[in-house]
Amino acid sequence: MANPTPARPNPTRKVLWIGAAVILLMAGWGTLGWYLTGGFKMAHEMPSVGGPFELIGTDGQTVTDRDFAGKPRAMFFGFTYCPDVCPTTLADVGTWLKALGDKADDIRFIFVSIDPERDTPQLIKDYLSAFDPRITGLTGSVQQVDAIKRNYRVYAKKVPTEDGDYTMDHTAGVYLFDKNGTFAGTVDYTEPAETAVKKIEAVLN
Ligand code: NI
Repeated sequence: MANPTPARPNPTRKVLWIGAAVILLMAGWGTLGWYLTGGFKMAHEMPSVGGPFELIGTDGQTVTDRDFAGKPRAMFFGFTYCPDVCPTTLADVGTWLKALGDKADDIRFIFVSIDPERDTPQLIKDYLSAFDPRITGLTGSVQQVDAIKRNYRVYAKKVPTEDGDYTMDHTAGVYLFDKNGTFAGTVDYTEPAETAVKKIEAVLN
């Protein structure tokens, strides 16, 4: 019985391997090219979150980002008629403030209305009186609120209700900014207090 012929390099297979290597190399080069040109540029053109704003405080006074200069900020957006997300977040903020102890003095918590047509300064003041007094409430003209929504990448939209009124669909979560006003991430809606406080402490340093 003859032994099977020992395997010899198969020229066809070799060509296929070289072909595969060339394709992989080209794909790799293409990805690098995309990253260095389009992708890289795109990453740098990512819209930033935050920046200057001008709004109205609960005493009817003008309040701007400059009033918080040099202090870290935690900002959240909602409306006083909100049935669930806003009261829950405001109660959570109270819990975080207590957990922060003395460190709470080093950060400002700001509630911004995204329903300026209904949320007057007085209404915001009355509404916030049920929560931690260290929370700053802000509203504004429709134009002022539109501007901060745009610059802070906040989604908010009127949703008609059956009774002819409306509610607001809006971004949940708390936006954190360091003392330079640089966006430093978010605390998610109903995030456990333990991780929320850790995130807040991180922007204090
Ligand atoms: Ni809400």
